[in-house]
Amino acid sequence: MISDRVQRMIEAGISYPLAKSSKEKKGEQEKLCSNENPLGASPKAVKVIKEHADDIGEYPESHAIRLKEAIGEYIGVSPTQVCVGNGSDEIMDLICKATMDPGDKALIPIPTFSQYELASRINAVKPKFVELEDFRWDPDRLIEEMNDVKAAFIGRPNNPTGNSIDEAGLRKLIGTGKVIIVDEAYGEFSDYSVVDWTNDYDNLIVLRTFSKIFGLAGLRVGYGVANNELTMALERVRAPFSVNRLAQRAAIEALKDKEFIEKSKKIVREGRDYLKRNLEDLGFEVRPTDANFLMVGLSQLNLKAPEVRNHLSQEGLLIRDLSDFRGAGPDWIRITVGKPGQNERLISSLREFLRDRE
Ligand SMILES: Cc1ncc(COP(=O)(O)O)c(C=O)c1O
Repeated sequence: MISDRVQRMIEAGISYPLAKSSKEKKGEQEKLCSNENPLGASPKAVKVIKEHADDIGEYPESHAIRLKEAIGEYIGVSPTQVCVGNGSDEIMDLICKATMDPGDKALIPIPTFSQYELASRINAVKPKFVELEDFRWDPDRLIEEMNDVKAAFIGRPNNPTGNSIDEAGLRKLIGTGKVIIVDEAYGEFSDYSVVDWTNDYDNLIVLRTFSKIFGLAGLRVGYGVANNELTMALERVRAPFSVNRLAQRAAIEALKDKEFIEKSKKIVREGRDYLKRNLEDLGFEVRPTDANFLMVGLSQLNLKAPEVRNHLSQEGLLIRDLSDFRGAGPDWIRITVGKPGQNERLISSLREFLRDRE
């Protein structure tokens, strides 16, 4: 009954990784594991959802025209270059469907966001993993592996490493003529973007989301930006009402919420600096990051990710153990930047943990 490829995924246990916790009462936990916005949702977005809750008896606008116009204005591209989906996760799936055939290969530099692999496998596309040496981006090495692939998924900034391939390197990858998917889910935190390059290259798709800076992860809105032809192909394979009414309205309001955007950038910038400084003082290795999370190395302290994760979880702090992240492993954890109080709790809890081990 089940297709061979899905059966293989089930047998190999390939699925979206969930944060592990050892505390029972979920409500007591501070989530520093999913790279959400520490301030929660844009208040303008929440307000409009409450005002329009009664409208859900009607289907949404299937092509999300008004939202595409708002996005086009926000990032400076034509609305015809924007495809909106149920989270950027949906756009990854659409890209596989619209640009690849069963049996094609997609390059996935690792460690990276697990959904690139899942979207590929679900669509019978074979992931071709290339490990980032010392978590650094070496475009020439990636290009060496690209002869037999149809596409490449590039996180920019990359999750969980937090760093990015530089512009010159990215242009080299695009120069191969393969479909290059640049995921800018954390683009507002990094303050750099190649979204305007979609006017120059017909093999580039940029992914962005409302789940991070706008704090709308629970609503599920993301988008892809490409040239008109590629965007039309993505629309062809999309289910007609994949972005619901309230999500469309809320996303439009969130784009206008400049105050919230600036506040979010500031709290992340300050929290990131605070965490980096204090984690390094405690002896952890902190990788350079442009996003709202930090990849933290434990080997200098002779620690392993599960023990750190368990300790923090018992203290009510959820972080991401990277043991089962392809290309990372038990020497690494990922911490999402929280509110100042959460960051301080995390540091004091780690300090106590290290003291108790002495
Ligand atoms: C690199 C990256 N891309 C995309 C996403 C998911 O975005 P969305 O919520 O829009 O599906 C995440 C979520 O953590 C992510 O880390």
